[in-house]
This record gives sequence, C-alpha cells and structure tokens, in this order.
Amino acid sequence: MDSEIATPEQIAEQLAEHTAEDKMAKDSKPTKSNKLEIAVETTKHPKSLPANESYGFGKFFSDHMFITEYSEVLGWHAPRIQPYQSLRLDPGAAVLHYGQAIFEGMKAFRGDDGKIRLFRPEANHRRMVASADRLCMKMVDFDIFVESLVRLVQTDINWVPTKPGTALYLRPTLIGSEAFLGVRPAEAFIYYVIASPVGGYYGDNIETVKIWIERKYSRAAPGGIGMTKAGGNYAASLIAATEAKKRGFAQVLWLDSSEKRFVEEVGTMNVFFRIGDEVITPPLGGTILPGVTRDCVIQLMKARGTPVIERPIGLDEVIDAHIRGDLKEVFGSGTAASISPVGALGHGDELITINGGKVGQISAELYKTLNDIQYGRIPDEFGWTMEIPLGAQK
Ligand code: COI
Repeated sequence: MDSEIATPEQIAEQLAEHTAEDKMAKDSKPTKSNKLEIAVETTKHPKSLPANESYGFGKFFSDHMFITEYSEVLGWHAPRIQPYQSLRLDPGAAVLHYGQAIFEGMKAFRGDDGKIRLFRPEANHRRMVASADRLCMKMVDFDIFVESLVRLVQTDINWVPTKPGTALYLRPTLIGSEAFLGVRPAEAFIYYVIASPVGGYYGDNIETVKIWIERKYSRAAPGGIGMTKAGGNYAASLIAATEAKKRGFAQVLWLDSSEKRFVEEVGTMNVFFRIGDEVITPPLGGTILPGVTRDCVIQLMKARGTPVIERPIGLDEVIDAHIRGDLKEVFGSGTAASISPVGALGHGDELITINGGKVGQISAELYKTLNDIQYGRIPDEFGWTMEIPLGAQK
C-alpha cells in the first residue's frame, strides 16, 4: 500500500506542474481555468465568521462548496462553486442504502508569511482513487480534484483562519447518487468539497490523550475496506469510541480482528511506538489506512537518521516493553490532530502510563516540524506544500 503514496520527487514534479497551471488560471478570467470551466455563484447571504476561539473541529461551514456530478452519458459535468447548501438526493440513492461514500480530510493553512498552502493534495487524491476503486465508484481526476480545492479556498479565502494552529479543513467527498435498490455499483455519483474552519486540536499546546485497549470490537478485517477512507469504517468504530468515552478514555487502540493480538490503529489515526531507541509502526496490509501524515512521519524520521520500522507489533510486546521501562512514547498521526501523543493506555483494570503522562520528545519534535512546514516557517524540503494563488478569484 506504501506505493499509493507518491515519493517526494513525484510530488514535487506534480506540484510544480500544478503551480504553473494555477498561475495560468490566475492570469485568465476569474471564473475560468485553462482546463476546466467552473461556474461560480457566490452567496448573497454571507455568514458571519465565528470567533477564532470557538472553532473546535467541524462545527462551522464556510459560505461556499464545490460540486460536480457524474453520469454514464455525460461523465463528470457541470463543475461549480455554489453557496453552501443541502444536496438534492433521491431517497433511493445508493449512498443511503449500500454506503457508497468515501472522503478525504485535508487542510489549507494560512502561513505566517500570509501565503495559503495545501498539504500533499496529490497523496490525498491517490488515496481517494484507491478508496473509489475498492468501493466500485468513479472518482474525479487530479485536475478536477486540485481545482475543486483551490477554487473553494480562493472563494472562501476569508474563512481560512489566522490564529496559530488553526486551518480551513477541507472535506472532499464522493457518494453514489443513483436511485436504484438492486445491489450493484451505482452509475451516478456526486463529488463535492465543503470547508470548515478548525482550531488546533489542543489549543496552543500539544497534549496527551488516554486510550482504551479495545478487545471486543474490530475496526477492519482482512479483505475488507480498512485501507479506504470510507464512511462505513467510521460508522463501525463509533460504538467502541462511545464505550471508551464512558470509561473516561478519549479513544481506542484497535487490534487485529482475528486474534486481537497485533496493534493496528489508534482512534481515527495511525499509531507509532517508541520502544527503547526504535520507532515502530504496523505495516500497511489492507486493514490499516495509508495515512498521509503517517507517510510524513516515516519520511521525517528517515531524514532525521532514525528510520521508522514498519512491522507487526504485538500488544504483548508493548506491555513487556512497559514492564521493562522501555516504552518511551506512543503517538497517533492524522490530518486532524497532526501528532497525538498517548499519555496512558487502559488495559483492563490497569492503567499503563507512558512517559509520566507527558508529551514525548519525538512526538513534540514531529508536531513542531510538521506545523513549521505547513505554516511556511521552515523550508519545505520535501515538496509537500502547494501554494494557493491569491488575488485572482473571490
Ligand atoms: C484524521 O485524524 O485526520 C481523521 O481522519 C479524522 C477525521 C475523520 C476527523
């Protein structure tokens, strides 16, 4: 699955191409790209912006959305930016019955230099294509994908928050829209992008979370859809998270579905363990989401001279390391929280405290480096960021 994520060279090449295209788009008429005719209807009723402090995660939506539809006859057609509104969906639509729904999570960051950057859109597109293939869905190509993000951010530029740690979260979504009750892949789809200003997951400082080791429920099974960003995976996870919260934990540590022996993910994130001098993460094998942030962690650790070891990691091994005093850090990685350090693991009646419940050194370093790249504070040596041309569209 690692091959789903492009190398830094591939990304740099593609982003250079797209930066050039975006420059051309900027130089053309406001509502027209050189490749795509995107109609733009701006809202007559702009909402008032929420205060920076109250963003939380996913509570507010910006003024506009991108949308385009697919049919067998027309292909992808009528791409447009329109005021944020409800979808027109037949009650018999495939997504409502058989769950053909996938999404991505991305962010547009307003840098300290005033520039607005997307982060690794190429990697998100690759993963969305892989999710679409697995769920027998049609996905838009990279040109439409990147234009949908760029145009929406340009249109809702004032929704990209300014406070450090905040961002405009982008949610590209693909659903089966054909009305038909037979069980087969839909032949009509809707692709849309909505945007939500979000706060730093922890406010200004990174904090640890308490995680329950989940032994009853599974997130994904071999041969299933665990490696996709399908809505169904999140639906399947809700009961475990709800029960964990009742016990006083923020999320769960997912184990493999067959033996409940190997660690797979943490909450909605990929998971890393620092045991002694090694940093270990479970390998991508079909049940684990190929996280874009996971890939960043792997590349950053390699560049730092301490490569991450991708291998199956047993729960026993984690507990033994804790008993020996070798379990130095555990952290999750994902777009929403970036790096999420685990301060304690709930293991039956026992609580395994990690690093005295404090944020570990590697977690803190990774969090800072990722943030510094995303907000343009340090040079982007990996070619991960894509600057959004400003001033052309509104
Ligand atoms: C992430 O951690 O980036 C996620 O995917 C969580 C998201 C579904 C809110």
